[in-house]
Amino acid sequence: MTLLEIKALSVTFPSNTGPVQAVRRVDLQIERGSIHGLIGESGCGKTMTGMALLGLAPQGARIAADVFRFDGMDLTTHAASLRGRRIALISQDPAAALNPVLTIGRQMDDVLRTHSAQPKAERRVAAVALLTATGLAGPELLLKRYPHQLSGGMQQRVVIAQALATGADFLIADEPTTALDVTVGAQVLALLRKLVAERGLTVLMITHDMDVVAAVCDRATVLYAGLSVEEGPARAILTHPRHPYAAALLAALPDAVPHGQRLAAIEGRIPSPTQPITGCAFALRCPSVMPVCHEVPPPRRGGSDHGWLCHLDGQAP
Ligand SMILES: Nc1ncnc2c1ncn2[C@@H]1O[C@H](COP(=O)(O)OP(=O)(O)OP(=O)(O)O)[C@@H](O)[C@H]1O
Ligand SMILES: [Mg+2]
Repeated sequence: MTLLEIKALSVTFPSNTGPVQAVRRVDLQIERGSIHGLIGESGCGKTMTGMALLGLAPQGARIAADVFRFDGMDLTTHAASLRGRRIALISQDPAAALNPVLTIGRQMDDVLRTHSAQPKAERRVAAVALLTATGLAGPELLLKRYPHQLSGGMQQRVVIAQALATGADFLIADEPTTALDVTVGAQVLALLRKLVAERGLTVLMITHDMDVVAAVCDRATVLYAGLSVEEGPARAILTHPRHPYAAALLAALPDAVPHGQRLAAIEGRIPSPTQPITGCAFALRCPSVMPVCHEVPPPRRGGSDHGWLCHLDGQAP
């Protein structure tokens, strides 16, 4: 069942030199109980898409969409009230998400108190259970600790425990393992996978890292310059990408990819967000560019569950 459905999302900032298009046209459809990857180079609009879903786009941002729906509710009006209730953010920097001057116990309790009418003793039991569910050992002792006494991986688990404490069933994980070392990052990914399986959570996994997509994503959407250019099963995108941009991202990775490898650089740069795009956004960097690429590319489908935007039929070189 579809939990999140977005069609033609745009996030635009008015400026003196014309509109800054942080997100131009993003489509997302995410099934309940799945992990959906959002992939693309720096600046392509991943975080801004997540912020729009959370009702946290910066002041001045103009958000528009043909469809912008979470569990049947219109996010245009409900995003802010769903945040911290149904939708939670797991960011790259867990230390910044935690209050440095309050103990873990106090911070867990603050969340639980807001979300339930349980008496204090029961909230403590709930806090211990949630910390245990995120794989933290010695939860009783942990309640007395301050964030700086925890490693980055432990802090990220506490942030996830807090998200669970709100009752959120949709997590937006924005590069959740980027600041962690490889082994710890892999453990946090395994935890998210386990929570999806056991609790039916749904995750939007924002990442640069194809290893993350391979490790945990069911499906994925590739963004380029604020546009969804390919969407399909994660495995199909990793092994048989249809859009030349997705193919270039993968081809540019060295064969022996060190674990935790970020997206390899492709020659050239994404178009500036102030630059209007006519035709295909990737044409300037595309190894398969043809004269027709100056016209808007058609949507294409390979099977029922894989789509991309290109003048080519998906037999990317
Ligand atoms: N407050 C803002 N005002 C205007 N433009 C912004 C603002 N914040 C971000 N942008 C622009 O929006 C575009 C998308 O940024 P975003 O942070 O979503 O990219 P990203 O894909 O998350 O990149 P990264 O991988 O580096 O995190 C960029 O061009 C960025 O410069
Ligand atoms: Mg980002």
